[in-house]
Amino acid sequence: MCEKHMKQESQDVPTLGRRSVFGRIWAGLVALAILEGGWLISLILRAKRKEGAASNSVQIIDVGEMTQFIPGQVTAVPQGRFFLSCLEDGRLIALSRTCTHLGCTLPWNVEKKQFICPCHGSTFDERGEVLTAPAVRPLDYYPVKIENGVIKVDVSKPMKRETFDLSQTARV
Ligand code: FES
Repeated sequence: MCEKHMKQESQDVPTLGRRSVFGRIWAGLVALAILEGGWLISLILRAKRKEGAASNSVQIIDVGEMTQFIPGQVTAVPQGRFFLSCLEDGRLIALSRTCTHLGCTLPWNVEKKQFICPCHGSTFDERGEVLTAPAVRPLDYYPVKIENGVIKVDVSKPMKRETFDLSQTARV
């Protein structure tokens, strides 16, 4: 073997070794990135499945017989954290007791026939509409159903709204 070839070989061996090491490190990093990506995707999918299950879970509160409620009456339903308001025309609307300004709990004032917020003074009528600011949005409501004369309220999710309309109510 000539000196030139020997010199060439001695230069090639370390170069190939370094390439091989970098190649393995690179392959390792790619594999790690793929594993991490898969793990992240599985976390996201699991969270979405949980979210979907929670939003699909229906929580129905059985409020009682229709005959218990008279027009103009607003009744607190503590187990559902809402008020059942029987409007003058006999329609029912289930109103969240959470003020839409900053979330304080609202009491119903029987004498004034208003919800009056103890925190900053917003007032709402029996339909949950704003009478006095600072709140600007009506109270959230929950869907009401009447089955065989029994009132049922779905409290799984409060419904936001911009204004009152009859689709938010139920009637026999
Ligand atoms: S929280 Fe009700 S008015 Fe502010």
